[in-house]
Amino acid sequence: MTGYILAIDQGTTSSRAILFDKDYRPVAVGQQEFTQHFPASGWVEHDPEEIWTTTVATAKEALSKAGATIGEIAGIGITNQRETTVIWDRETGRAIHNAIVWQDRRTAGFCGNLKQQGLEQKFSEKTGLLLDPYFSGTKIAWLLDNVAGAREAAEKGKLAFGTIDSFLLWRLTGGKVHATDATNASRTLIYDIHQCDWSDELLDILNIPKSLLPEVRDCAADYGMLDPDILGGTTKIAAIAGDQQAATVGQACFKPGMMKSTYGTGCFALLNTGEVPVKSKNKLLTTIAYQLSGKPTYALEGSIFVAGAAVQWLRDGLGIIEHAAQSGELAERADPGQGVIMVPAFVGIGAPYWDADCRGAIFGLTRAAGPKEFARAALESVCFQTRDLLTAMHNDFTDNHETVLRVDGGMVASEWTMQRLADILGAPVDRPVSAETTALGAAYLAGLQTDFYPSIDEFSESWLRDKRFTPTIAEAERDTAYAKWQDAVRRTLTSYP
Ligand code: G3P
Repeated sequence: MTGYILAIDQGTTSSRAILFDKDYRPVAVGQQEFTQHFPASGWVEHDPEEIWTTTVATAKEALSKAGATIGEIAGIGITNQRETTVIWDRETGRAIHNAIVWQDRRTAGFCGNLKQQGLEQKFSEKTGLLLDPYFSGTKIAWLLDNVAGAREAAEKGKLAFGTIDSFLLWRLTGGKVHATDATNASRTLIYDIHQCDWSDELLDILNIPKSLLPEVRDCAADYGMLDPDILGGTTKIAAIAGDQQAATVGQACFKPGMMKSTYGTGCFALLNTGEVPVKSKNKLLTTIAYQLSGKPTYALEGSIFVAGAAVQWLRDGLGIIEHAAQSGELAERADPGQGVIMVPAFVGIGAPYWDADCRGAIFGLTRAAGPKEFARAALESVCFQTRDLLTAMHNDFTDNHETVLRVDGGMVASEWTMQRLADILGAPVDRPVSAETTALGAAYLAGLQTDFYPSIDEFSESWLRDKRFTPTIAEAERDTAYAKWQDAVRRTLTSYP
């Protein structure tokens, strides 16, 4: 009897595996953090072997906690940190270099050169993305140019590229399947989101041989069978989606105008725009939200690189809190009159500014500013950045829908932060009952493929709100606070507009 779906959620700082039952309940969770490598300033790498071993270990942990065997699993759904790039040897299955993580900025110069050649529009038109080191394409080119023998081996068809989903799939199927899904493909800078195919023209520009690339499938699809040697039995691998897209599914944002924002290390807001890809005039990304039965549904995405990472900095950098959860209580006791503003551009700043070279700044310090004001400024920076994104989204896509933001991720546990978010946005913020929206999205897709879960409509009805936060401050107060934030950002960017 199959009683569960296994969701593998391979994130930036930890690998997780969660078993969901028929009622979408997470019945057992395995989680392991893994090593972050920082070989040079602005470089971030992961060891693919550690990604693999922690993934397998957490899957075993979840099965054992639930007292389940793989025979009870109806299917596996994979969700993952997106853009992170791995190239491996097709014969040995071993990576030729550490994975280059999405946060890594080593290809900023390369992106700058491509921009100078006037190529940004071409990339943007085809992929919906911008020429930023964030995406996989320039990372692939870097590996081919910098790992000894890589280009030659790639040209002979001996190597394979994949985002983390694809690398895990290869390993999980014992090297039988080299595939990815449309959402992960849409983050690579070499995938044409309109034609739904790899772009020969962009591959030529970046000098990437096509033989490296995985086959692109729907999010809910047949991805092959699990190699029985890994978890002591087999089942179908039935779904793949990038983590932010999986969260969009987990939040049941299936209608145009619906949006979610996930607060993890960074913050990623996705607005469902339906069957038509909307081109942003405000430096948002156009991306595939999910693809089912060969039909893509598109989204506008705003990507902020530092959200929870600002709270981690309060804890690890400044040492003013011991646990992330204390930041909200501290912020609540701050003197709002101090007006301290933090722009947490620790790794440059993402949407809608896209300045890879600027670094963080704090404004408005007086002798009276202390840990409480720093905590408030860090949490408010996340709220202000979300407003930046929602303003851009509103300007790009108006369909008269009421703005309601569905939120998830670690930071949403803070009541103060969520209330402040609603106040700064001037819009309701809905927190769901399920705290596992990303893994749930992957599980739901796998359950859809294997007939374990019902239709999208039924799944949408099962989405339950834990709490709605509604704005409580006057518009003038909101606008004054936001204007101060915008001024602080202007002063932080490398070119002062
Ligand atoms: O685009 C990067 C994003 O997918 C990373 O998400 O949750 O692993 O920090 P997360």
